[in-house]
Amino acid sequence: MPTVSLVDPSVPIKADAVVVGVLQGKDGPRLAPGAQPVSRALFGSTSGGKLLKALKDVGVTGRPDQVVSISTLGLADFPVVVATGLGENAREAEALRRAAGAVTRTVTNHARLHFAISGPVSAIAEGALFGAYSFTDYKASPAKSALRAISIAGDGGGRRELARAKALAEAITTTRNLVNTPPNDLYPASFAAKVKELARGTGVTVEVLTEDGLKRGRYGAILAVGGGSVNPPRLVRLTYRPARSKATVALVGKGITFDSGGLNLKPGNSMAWMKSDMGGAAGVITSTLAIAALKLPITVIATVPMAENMPGGSAYRPSDVITMRSGKTVEVGNTDAEGRLVLADALSRAGEDEPDFLIETSTLTGAQLVALGGRVIGAMGEPKWRDQVVAAGNAVGEASWAMPLPSEYAGGLESPVADLNNISSDSWGGMLVAGLFLKNFMPDGVPWVHLDIAGPSFNQAAPHGYTPKGGTGAVVRTIVAAVESLTK
Ligand code: BES
Ligand code: MN
Ligand code: ZN
Repeated sequence: MPTVSLVDPSVPIKADAVVVGVLQGKDGPRLAPGAQPVSRALFGSTSGGKLLKALKDVGVTGRPDQVVSISTLGLADFPVVVATGLGENAREAEALRRAAGAVTRTVTNHARLHFAISGPVSAIAEGALFGAYSFTDYKASPAKSALRAISIAGDGGGRRELARAKALAEAITTTRNLVNTPPNDLYPASFAAKVKELARGTGVTVEVLTEDGLKRGRYGAILAVGGGSVNPPRLVRLTYRPARSKATVALVGKGITFDSGGLNLKPGNSMAWMKSDMGGAAGVITSTLAIAALKLPITVIATVPMAENMPGGSAYRPSDVITMRSGKTVEVGNTDAEGRLVLADALSRAGEDEPDFLIETSTLTGAQLVALGGRVIGAMGEPKWRDQVVAAGNAVGEASWAMPLPSEYAGGLESPVADLNNISSDSWGGMLVAGLFLKNFMPDGVPWVHLDIAGPSFNQAAPHGYTPKGGTGAVVRTIVAAVESLTK
């Protein structure tokens, strides 16, 4: 990850490329505030007219995701000016985040990038760090980015913001790496070992239950779902206990390292991105580490079920009845509805810590993608806490939307032989049905929220803003912001 620092806007710019923002106005593009020193260095005037003309000459419009570089032809100490589009709504911090990210994602041939855009330093730092990502672990000769140092024009303050941006970038980078790692290398045992390695020296403690521990603890669902794979399941628990704690938050994240569907094998190409079915697990693990790095005064206990959903000879079957850790029984209607099963056992365990709040997140349903697509998280749960989490996430630039849990839809989950079925007789509203299933295993009296990130956790489309193809790091900012909202 490149370094990031603040520099006084009145001192001469030292960089290999200087970034200016361009607003998309009704009457054409305009330079965003902060570009004056660039204009002065080039033309001796802060008016910006000549700089804007030069940018317009090469087709700069200011539309989001437009990044255009021009040579300064020896007129200034810095050889290149980069223009990044802020769009029409440039006052939003998220526009700045995306514009900064679009630069670091695409301009990789300069070692030192300077941002001459005024606005919240946190947004520029976050966007620039989130955008400067590439996953090259599996490339024989990776194309290395030259970017080493990011500087942002800003006055003295902003140290805390920079530290927060770095902690978030660290967490998001690790989440993306975990999601992008192929499933032949990331399976429950290796994932659990990786968590131990990540937590070393952070003050966060890690406990791993192997198969024996899962049997002793009666984790019937985790054992059933993991049973069809040669790679046995795990339950990983991370605990962060600050000296002074205002509340305890339980985090739970779905860690299916590969979802083949099991015996109800996924058809056609729908297994294509199922290495990402542990995006919720990665998100809660890295959020816990970020919260610890920021020393927030909140106790966080993450409970992460890890399993590989495979159709081997010892796989669980449709019609099996599982005795869950909670004691409830569940008839398996479909082995591809495995996430809610492993989560149910994890939720029971999380409730035993008597948390004050609970956040569960999972790549749970294709129906989330149908309803909200790839960029908006679906949030369900206890209304007040759900709305607090949604508001916290939206305020830091991660979109989520509250969805209902109509109790009428729960009837479809009835089973003639067990307490519940894991799928509904009604095929509509699948995201809500999954939320209603989970509700049965939520600890009594604890405000809870379920965040379905099936779409947002993995970008199969073109990269945009600070978001690369593949793992996105979704949900980390929402979790950290929701936990921060409890410190106020
Ligand atoms: N992991 C999938 C959900 C998913 C689908 C995530 C697409 C990301 C992209 C989940 O385990 C699953 O298979 N859900 C089924 C549930 C159904 C069998 C009730 C689904 O959504 O089709
Ligand atoms: Mn599935
Ligand atoms: Zn799944």
